[in-house]
Amino acid sequence: MKILVLGGAGYIGSHTVSELVDAGEDVVIADNLETGHIEAVNPKAKFYQGDIRDKKFVDSIFDNEKIDAVIHFAANSLVGESMTNPLKYYDNNLYGTKVLLESMVEHGVDKIVFSSTAATYGEPESIPILENDKTEPTNPYGETKLSMEKMMKWTGVAHGLRYVALRYFNACGAHVSGEIGEAHSPETHLIPLILQVPNGQREAISIFGDDYDTKDGTCVRDYIHVTDLAQAHILAVKYLADGGKSDVFNLGNGVGFTVKEVIETARKVTGHPIPAVISPRRGGDPAKLIASSEKAKNILGWKPEHADLEEIIATAWKWHKNHPNGYAK
Ligand code: UFG
Repeated sequence: MKILVLGGAGYIGSHTVSELVDAGEDVVIADNLETGHIEAVNPKAKFYQGDIRDKKFVDSIFDNEKIDAVIHFAANSLVGESMTNPLKYYDNNLYGTKVLLESMVEHGVDKIVFSSTAATYGEPESIPILENDKTEPTNPYGETKLSMEKMMKWTGVAHGLRYVALRYFNACGAHVSGEIGEAHSPETHLIPLILQVPNGQREAISIFGDDYDTKDGTCVRDYIHVTDLAQAHILAVKYLADGGKSDVFNLGNGVGFTVKEVIETARKVTGHPIPAVISPRRGGDPAKLIASSEKAKNILGWKPEHADLEEIIATAWKWHKNHPNGYAK
């Protein structure tokens, strides 16, 4: 199959390309390199540099390549930034997806797997979170991702396109080779920030609030290895290729860890004391997010292979220790 990966130079995109290439698929990457990295572009894939809001650019890919399915990662994904600059999210995430779907319909490409997020749920009603729980995003990032899901749904109704939306919980870890990994600027995610301490780039990690209603007062999250997420995309493409209907799936381990537990595990993995400082709560953080991924397991046949938190952090550490500045030299 020839698969177009939009955002294939980004964190989850590059790991998915790596798994696709290893599985022998023919991969085409498109990325505007705004947050993606040229060094993360897999040499076995064909690469187009450009922006999905540019219709001519997107059309040219579908004109030149006989694409069977699209995997769509090309979006902005920072919750905090989306609160201060919501229109950036409406422009890139929503308008970009509109242009993409228009071009797909015109070129008769009818299968798309799409990276969605736990942020589509907002404050959960109950734990673990199920796909048909209420979706009330508390920030423009989650809101635009939910609207992207709906855009695909209605495009499907009108034009026969089928989609799978994968709602990730906390993506983390790095490729076992240590050659590709997480490299955001600015970095806002817990595990890379913790690892900046043993890397000598930060004195201490801040714990954002220790007065939540959880077992040690710090927020609970469901950490899922990026390679397990990547595998789910491959299964979702197969599901659509086999005639599966449009659907939405959560992707998590179904196990929650507190911020303090993550820090303690990082101390164990790195052998560094990693000082932690209690800081005020960060606005908009739900106390607890844990996925039920039973649906993805039952329907897609997904099985996370790197569920152990120590192993997840060890893969992240391998990457960050050898690439303290990410892909920058
Ligand atoms: N945290 C700290 N200190 C830090 C950074 C984070 O205590 O320096 C805490 C956060 O408050 C949160 C937990 O660590 O409780 C995890 O924070 P991350 O920023 O790593 O991840 P989030 O849970 O905020 O974000 C994830 C995804 C988003 C998604 C969101 C849904 O990365 O894409 O879940 O709420 F939108």
